This record gives sequence, C-alpha cells and structure tokens, in this order.
Amino acid sequence: MKLRPTDLAAALLRPAQQSSEFPLDLERIYGRRAPLAIEIGFGGGEALAWWATQRPEWNFLAFELPPECMARAARAVVEAGCSERVRLVRGDARYLLREIVPPGAAHRVLMQFPMPWPKRSHAKHRLTDEEFRNGLASALAPGGRFELVTDQESFAREMAESFAADSAFAAEQPAADPPRAFRTRYERRWLAEGRTIWRYRAELRSARPHLPLSQSAAMQTFFLSAVPARDRLYELRGRRHMNPEPHQVCEFKDAYASEDGWLIEMLAADGGFSQLFLARIRARATGGAILRVDECARPYPTPAVLEALRWLSRELA
Ligand SMILES: C[S@@+](CC[C@H](N)C(=O)[O-])C[C@H]1O[C@@H](n2cnc3c(N)ncnc32)[C@H](O)[C@@H]1O
Repeated sequence: MKLRPTDLAAALLRPAQQSSEFPLDLERIYGRRAPLAIEIGFGGGEALAWWATQRPEWNFLAFELPPECMARAARAVVEAGCSERVRLVRGDARYLLREIVPPGAAHRVLMQFPMPWPKRSHAKHRLTDEEFRNGLASALAPGGRFELVTDQESFAREMAESFAADSAFAAEQPAADPPRAFRTRYERRWLAEGRTIWRYRAELRSARPHLPLSQSAAMQTFFLSAVPARDRLYELRGRRHMNPEPHQVCEFKDAYASEDGWLIEMLAADGGFSQLFLARIRARATGGAILRVDECARPYPTPAVLEALRWLSRELA
C-alpha cells in the first residue's frame, strides 16, 4: 500500500498547546461519540493498530515520546485502515492524561513494557508516582481500568503498592504469564529470552477532581527595553532558577543568534514533568524587544514555562 503524507498526518494530533484548547473536544476530533481507549508508550504502534482493529466501536488516543515512534505508528494505523478512530499525540503521558483528556473520558488505559528505570537517578522517569496516578484518576471514568504489562516483576509490584495506597482505585495483585491475544515486539523479545510476563490491573472506583496545570498558564509576551547583548546572554548559560512551592525548575541552556534577535533554549520542569523549549527575543520596529515562546518548539503551557519566561525577562531587565 502506498502511503501519502496526508494519510500519516491524519493520524497525528498536535494539540494547539494553548490551554484554551484543553481538554480535547473528542467528539469534534473523531466525529462521533464512542468509548475511549488510551495506549501509553505504543512504540511502533503494532499493538495499537491491532487493538483498534479489534474494537472498531471505540476511539483511541495514544501517547509516545520519540518522533520516530510517531511516524512508525502513524504508518501502522494507516496500513491497518483505522486511522479515522486513532490519534497519536507526542508527549509525556503524565502530563497528557491530566491536561488533554477530558476528565472521566477514558474506559481503558494500557501501558505495555515501559522502561523500568531501575536506577535511583532515574526515579523521576518512573510512572509509579502520585502524579501518574492523579493523571489516571482524572482521565478514567469510574469503573474504567488501567492495565500495565511488563517483564519486570519488581516494577509490577511497585506499581501495585503505589495503587494499593490510593483509595480511589480497586487494585488486583500482579498476575504472572496471563493469556494475551497480542504480543508486542518487546514482549516477543522477552519471551524468547525466557522471561516471565506480568500484568497488573487497577480499576477507578470514584472520580477524582481534575487539577489541570495548563489553565493557570496562558502564555504571555514580555517586553524588554532592548535586544540583550551577547555577553549578557552567554553569562546566563547553565543558570537555574527554582521555585520550591510548587516545585518548579527553570534553566537557561543556551542562546543562538537569529536574524532579528535571539533564540534561547530553556528547560522548565513542573515537578517531574520537564520540557525543553525555545524562547524568541525579537527586536520591535518601535524600539525595545519582545520575549515569548517560539512556535517551532512550543512547549505545553505549564506554570513552569511561564515562570521561566518571567524569570528571564527579570534577568534581562
Ligand atoms: C520499551 S518501549 C515498549 C514499546 C511497546 N509498548 C512494545 O511493547 O513494543 C517503552 C515505550 O514507552 C514510552 N514511554 C515511556 N515513558 C513514557 C511517558 N511518560 N509518556 C509516553 N511514553 C512513554 C517510551 O518512549 C518507549 O517507546
């Protein structure tokens, strides 16, 4: 089958990343009302395409991080003929579950073979924390189910422990080698190595209030008296600004000269959710300069992104 770029683009969803557009209007996106299933970390999208083919009466939303996964999965769903009911969104599930999924919209959330991040220094990547559970509790409908499949028993048990402490969920114990109708690429690899596969399920008992981050962070334009000098910007490289409550970290990474000013590479972290983005400083015809998020690498509009711009504008005042 010959794929056209427009076919692939149809499966990708790029939320406008304006808080006013969140949560998503699912009926407009899919053109129908239907139960919603979410896959986190779909890799090449083989399982997602299979799942969507098995359940033509459901809509599917799926989250991944690397751009190459987005492209491979878009192809997989187009080839399976289900791109109309599947949308792929690039981003961290911990943020997307809570921010873009309408509260209580999801009937199933599936995560298969996420990285276990076993080292202590990797702990911030793990999906067993409260932020992740809050995201699930917001996205799932009461009675909706979260399912984790992993080759790491310790990860399944850590997940079970974290859910057992949360009264919003009715949780099962991890099950070893459950029957599975579709085996993912990673699963086949681990099975060939003789590993045991673990499944962990938890059901949402009661809805939990939705506390979105983005609604408090409409992106703004900041005014500077002049385009800053190169030396001043280079001095800021590697500089950090922290806000302990809520936990926010902002970092000035680097500055690149552009035709009409500067592109600034910044990092902004809201708790465990960190984003690299570009801010642009551009000279104004009427004098001075403006500072704002650049369109080409636009972050989700979180309070830490807004704080990073505010901090930078103070530093450059
Ligand atoms: C080991 S791969 C497994 C891929 C696929 N599920 C399979 O079984 O073949 C794990 C995937 O989870 C994705 N992932 C991990 N943490 C994520 C997060 N917070 N949000 C979205 N995707 C995530 C990674 O990018 C990676 O592609």
